[in-house]
Amino acid sequence: MILLLTIIVRGLHFCNGSWYHHPMALQSGVSREAAWELFRTYNKDPFHLQHALTVEGVMDWYARELGYADEAEFWGITGLLHDIDFEEYPDRHCLKAPELLRAGGVSEEMIHAVCSHGWGIVDVEAKPEHEMEKVLFAADELTGLVWAAAIIRPSRSVKDMEVKSLKKKYKTPAFAAGCSREVIERGAALLGWELDALFEKTILAMRNCEDSVNAFMRGL
Ligand SMILES: [Fe+2]
Repeated sequence: MILLLTIIVRGLHFCNGSWYHHPMALQSGVSREAAWELFRTYNKDPFHLQHALTVEGVMDWYARELGYADEAEFWGITGLLHDIDFEEYPDRHCLKAPELLRAGGVSEEMIHAVCSHGWGIVDVEAKPEHEMEKVLFAADELTGLVWAAAIIRPSRSVKDMEVKSLKKKYKTPAFAAGCSREVIERGAALLGWELDALFEKTILAMRNCEDSVNAFMRGL
């Protein structure tokens, strides 16, 4: 008779003599609706609202793509809230966020994720560790570049954009100069991905949420 001993301690799962990684349910601390209300409290600029909704959609797509479908809501809400302090506190980006998020009941693990997207850019200690945090770090900056490239296309859409044309824009330093190529490259390196893979996936992610984000923005 085999004795099965199962212990779950902080994400490690001991079963039948071995330790396994056992993904623990990530807690947001807020519903998606409450997170949107919290974000709206500090953000009015349509550009910031559109960016938040886009990064939410992108993070949700990545969660499903990378095998974290059960965490998709956590990934999405993190994307929605990641720039919560940027509009009102641009000089304290990622530094003011913990206070605003804590007051809104957001969990410490989500606060870590939000802060980690400023790692090496602003003075935060949180480093992207979870794969979700690495994706946020890499994709956040890139969504800005993809969006800038999309709105000058005849279609004004990501749907007919190919990696090749995005790369051309990426290699033109004057194009969307505010989107740091260095941050995008660091993000790809954190994930261990080639830039092309990051570009391709992020285009697909943005294609997937473009219509719903646009429809929502029109309804505001
Ligand atoms: Fe952002």
